Amino acid sequence: MYGVTSLLLLGSCAVQSVFGRPDVSRARQEGVLLQRAVNDFIATEEQVALDQLLCNIGSTGCHTQGVASGLVIASPSKDSPDYWYTWSRDAALVLKAVVERFAHKYDGSLQTEIVNYIVAQAKLQTVSNPSGDLSDGRGLGEPKFNVDGSAFTGSWGRPQRDGPALRAITMIGYSKWLVQNGYTSTATNQIWPLIRNDLAYVAQYWNQTGFDLWEEVQGSSFFTVSAQHRALIEGSALAKTLGSSCSACDAVAPQVLCFLQTFWSSSSGYTLANINVNNGRSAKDANVILGSIHNFDPALKCDAATFQPCSDRALASHKVVVDSFRSIYNINSGISAGSAAAVGRYPEDVYYNGNPWYLNTLAAAEQLYDALYVWQTTGSITVTSTSLAFFKALVPSVTAGTYASSSSTYTSIYNAVFLYADGFIDKVSQYAASNGSLAEQYDRNSGVPLSARDLTWSYASFLTAVARRAGVVPVGWARGNAAATSVPGSCFATSKVGSYSTVSVTAFPTSQTPNGSPTTSVTFTTPTVTTTKTSTTTGSCPQTTAVAVTFTVRKVTTFGQTVKIVGNTDKIGNWDTSKAIALSASQYTSSNPVWSGTVSLTPGQAIQYKYIVVNTDGSVTWEADPNRSYSIPTCTATAQKSDTWQN
Ligand SMILES: *[C@@H]1O[C@H](CO)[C@@H](O)[C@H](O)[C@H]1NC(C)=O
Ligand SMILES: *[C@@H]1O[C@H](CO)[C@@H](O)[C@H](O)[C@H]1NC(C)=O
Ligand SMILES: *[C@@H]1O[C@H](CO)[C@@H](O)[C@H](O)[C@H]1NC(C)=O
Repeated sequence: MYGVTSLLLLGSCAVQSVFGRPDVSRARQEGVLLQRAVNDFIATEEQVALDQLLCNIGSTGCHTQGVASGLVIASPSKDSPDYWYTWSRDAALVLKAVVERFAHKYDGSLQTEIVNYIVAQAKLQTVSNPSGDLSDGRGLGEPKFNVDGSAFTGSWGRPQRDGPALRAITMIGYSKWLVQNGYTSTATNQIWPLIRNDLAYVAQYWNQTGFDLWEEVQGSSFFTVSAQHRALIEGSALAKTLGSSCSACDAVAPQVLCFLQTFWSSSSGYTLANINVNNGRSAKDANVILGSIHNFDPALKCDAATFQPCSDRALASHKVVVDSFRSIYNINSGISAGSAAAVGRYPEDVYYNGNPWYLNTLAAAEQLYDALYVWQTTGSITVTSTSLAFFKALVPSVTAGTYASSSSTYTSIYNAVFLYADGFIDKVSQYAASNGSLAEQYDRNSGVPLSARDLTWSYASFLTAVARRAGVVPVGWARGNAAATSVPGSCFATSKVGSYSTVSVTAFPTSQTPNGSPTTSVTFTTPTVTTTKTSTTTGSCPQTTAVAVTFTVRKVTTFGQTVKIVGNTDKIGNWDTSKAIALSASQYTSSNPVWSGTVSLTPGQAIQYKYIVVNTDGSVTWEADPNRSYSIPTCTATAQKSDTWQN
């Protein structure tokens, strides 16, 4: 269904071979085609992502039979892997995306989801669990609950201290909308007491280790600490707006920011994902990309202390993290620095053999769109010695300096970064299931979807990344508060023991529709691509005479059946089923029924094909229409095409 990628690839080097050498018109063509391909994908996928996200929220979501109201399941997958739980982190990030979408454009059904989530969190806060209970706040650090809202009592990596911070941020987001629209008392009475519990937890326990967002490393995690800092700053500001205060927030936030600085390793040139841990890893991890995008505040511009998306620290880390996956995933082979690649969690990952994740690939795009927004609205791009390598991979001639929007260097960088960002969305387009479903991972070798299906967080990541691309940015969290970015001269382990109260939130006032001036949004123009990829990428197109295309199709079969591919060229049998190419079931499992095989095809050729099932008696079952179309890519020796049987 999403054959848009092939359009891009067909355009990319085909023009070069016609005109003989890379030139501006070829580069322009490439950029325009990429933009068009990404536009087409978004046009279909955005609705799929929203629908599928909502499918995973109880109690009425299409995948949530038996799930309590307001609880967000991580995925409908109940085995291999079992993600049939509600995680505090995933749920908060999903609702954060929902609140952002809602605040941008009023939607009563999204408001119902938000209110249900908040009511559900009030209950969850009171559930005693293996991390503890509410009396001293420890229970708030519990990572996941059963889908009926009861405690999960199995062993797990606990506590996870990002949950309360992220939940506070999400509830603060909705509270700000309420205040802006004249419903301050709802924020004060229904939501603030819940936020206050979560903030108290952060102020009390931020300086103790816990498990990271991937639930594997016990230590101090950049993602967690950056969320904690934001929650305290934004929580304190909300308290003031509501006529209250959060003195623990004010006392602790500067120390959290102080501690956050220690994650930056100037000797390594990137942000370390985990510290206070000795696990033998490189500490290169998409953790830091996620930390940066979730603390994006356009008003903070490229502030390095808060690791804003366009800060030199965050851009340097983006390069290091993305590059760490180039040589280890087969689907990234031949993709050089400066061109988008599939992005996983961290290079040493072994979960499901270590694969790219949709949400991390999307986060890599989102960080760059955030940066573009700031560059465009401030009218300049600054390149420092720290971020130079990031920029040089895109525009080799660039040197450190500040480039005003009127300069050609600015335009070169701006357009190259935009296309680089689009390239990550294009990866997701390439490796999404053909019906648009986004699982947790995609296979490092074949690109086929892997692990939990329909991961709620994958969909939320898609929605926020494409909102950024459209120039829709979140309401900031620092509100021009200088304390938000000023790092104390020395760091102290200040924490404050909090008090916690059981809050009963049963219902929200109804009909709280928009009632004020709508949130102002700044116009963001996508670049008119004039010159795009630079000579690093455009000049390196290998002149191949054949491309080894690996076709993968998901089809449940029974013993004795063989899946084959047949189509309109000699190599795939010229539609003669007796000459069809048999695929292999060597990677077939009941949870991932894949058949795959590699065929050598001509670069640039447009083929049509279908999959067939051949039974032991030789009888043939064709998959349903339409015939599939695929343009063999150029500039590459190998390619992957992943499909799902058409019923
Ligand atoms: C607590 O804060 C101090 C001061 O910033 C820092 O040195 C220490 O590593 C922190 N420990 C944890 C577990 O956060
Ligand atoms: C895509 O197909 C899979 C497998 O049939 C199914 O589980 C999933 O719900 C579908 N997704 C969408 C968005 O229709
Ligand atoms: C698929 O291609 C075959 C061979 O060209 C053709 O006979 C058939 O009509 C096509 N099917 C559709 C639905 O276009």
